[in-house]
Amino acid sequence: MFRRLPGDEARNLVSTTPDTAVVFRPAVVKTPAIITIVILAWRLLAGLVRTIWRHPIAVVVLAVPSVLCWLYGWQTALLLLSPAPAGLIAWALAGRSSFARWVGWRLLAWWRLVWVYRRHWQPVMIVSGLGRHLWGRDYLPRLGKVTCTPWADLVTVRMLKGQSVKDWADRLDHLAQGFGSASCRVALSRGGRLTLTFPRHDPLAERIPALPMPCSPTVGPVEIGKQEDGQPWLLKVHGTHVLVAGATGAGKGSIIWSTIRGLLPAVRVGLVEIWALDPKLMELSYGRDLFGSRYAATPEECADLLDQAVSVMQKRAARFAGIQRSHTPTVDDPFVLVVVDEVAFLTAYQSDRELKRRISAALATLTTQGRAVGVGVLAALQDPRKEVMNIRNLFPDKIALRLDESEQVDMVLGDGARDRGALADHISPVPGLGAGVGYVRLETSPDPIRVRAAYVSDADIRAMADAFAAGEDA
Ligand SMILES: Nc1ncnc2c1ncn2[C@@H]1O[C@H](COP(=O)(O)OP(=O)(O)OP(=O)(O)O)[C@@H](O)[C@H]1O
Ligand SMILES: [Mg+2]
Repeated sequence: MFRRLPGDEARNLVSTTPDTAVVFRPAVVKTPAIITIVILAWRLLAGLVRTIWRHPIAVVVLAVPSVLCWLYGWQTALLLLSPAPAGLIAWALAGRSSFARWVGWRLLAWWRLVWVYRRHWQPVMIVSGLGRHLWGRDYLPRLGKVTCTPWADLVTVRMLKGQSVKDWADRLDHLAQGFGSASCRVALSRGGRLTLTFPRHDPLAERIPALPMPCSPTVGPVEIGKQEDGQPWLLKVHGTHVLVAGATGAGKGSIIWSTIRGLLPAVRVGLVEIWALDPKLMELSYGRDLFGSRYAATPEECADLLDQAVSVMQKRAARFAGIQRSHTPTVDDPFVLVVVDEVAFLTAYQSDRELKRRISAALATLTTQGRAVGVGVLAALQDPRKEVMNIRNLFPDKIALRLDESEQVDMVLGDGARDRGALADHISPVPGLGAGVGYVRLETSPDPIRVRAAYVSDADIRAMADAFAAGEDA
């Protein structure tokens, strides 16, 4: 077997230069067969130990039946082992969620690791340029653990030394296509390690009906929809200002109405006042009765209402000065939420210069000084460019619904948000699929989260307004 080795052939290769008599003969060093055998045996052993270490359960599942078969024959082994699958089936039927948590998702994660990620890891890394092929060897980022959640695979990766998160963020499409997923998101878990998220299906594909109103009055955070991981999407409105950007039909109305719906119990007991500015007359006019006299539609009315809000704010600031630094809503000093739909109609697209100046000044004053005295602004607009909304940076919290251009995503969510997976320009323009879907940045994480707002239909709004007028809960 070891008689004719490649080296034996190489030793006989002789080359000479054409015009001299110099002869080149390759030097062949013979490796004793025992060393080769020891190296191969060592590699086999290391591979075995690594497999047992990495997949202990899979090894037990394969090894135990084999050993029992070998020791007692297959009939006895079958008899001894049959309670195990029967028990698992009973567990799956009786406690679906605990079975999924302890067995189902782990089994799926193992399968996805072996069949999808490990199998395609080398080609995807090399073709996408995240791995290197140097001197005949592959240098690949290390594939770590795969965890399955009900909607996505979370894959941990150790980057190659010298790589940055941006290198990966630039290749999200390569990764998604390479591993057969619709999209991919990247997040830094700790120095040198990443978590890649590959959704297996879209949990936000279905329209979410209007959420039930909170049982007790609350000023927030208000539940207005669902996050991609199934958690409720809570929007903080008290102590901040929120800007919602989205192209026409993106579902800005559903965010405004879900927020109003969540605050309504607090409005009823007087802890919150909602002041509505509806220059397009198409959104807030539906629930006019909810706002009483604090509703404005024409630019003049809107300017007056905003000036009134500024005056409330300034009076409060004068009273609070030196006494308290933050606002707690009370019946005497309720939280005032100024809701402005299509704010650009009042600022950038307003032809009357004086009105435009008044409105812009009032909005800038509210957004710079209102937070600590309990005056918040929730504004919606279609075009987030600076020329249209020059005070966009005065809103600490922003929501990007469907946008027309990729550059607009970073304008709304901040630099690098699109690279980290906030593909707001890829949201479907079909209302059933994409309306109300958007990306937000939560306080706890720099990575954008995909969310969908609940849809408050016209009938829901009418029911809310009627019930409010009658003084009952809707
Ligand atoms: N959260 C949602 N879930 C499902 N569908 C929605 C949602 N929000 C809105 N829609 C659908 O999308 C349509 C447009 O929504 P909406 O009027 O809120 O958009 P918009 O962003 O305010 O648009 P515009 O800027 O033109 O006013 C609605 O008529 C509704 O059918
Ligand atoms: Mg609208």
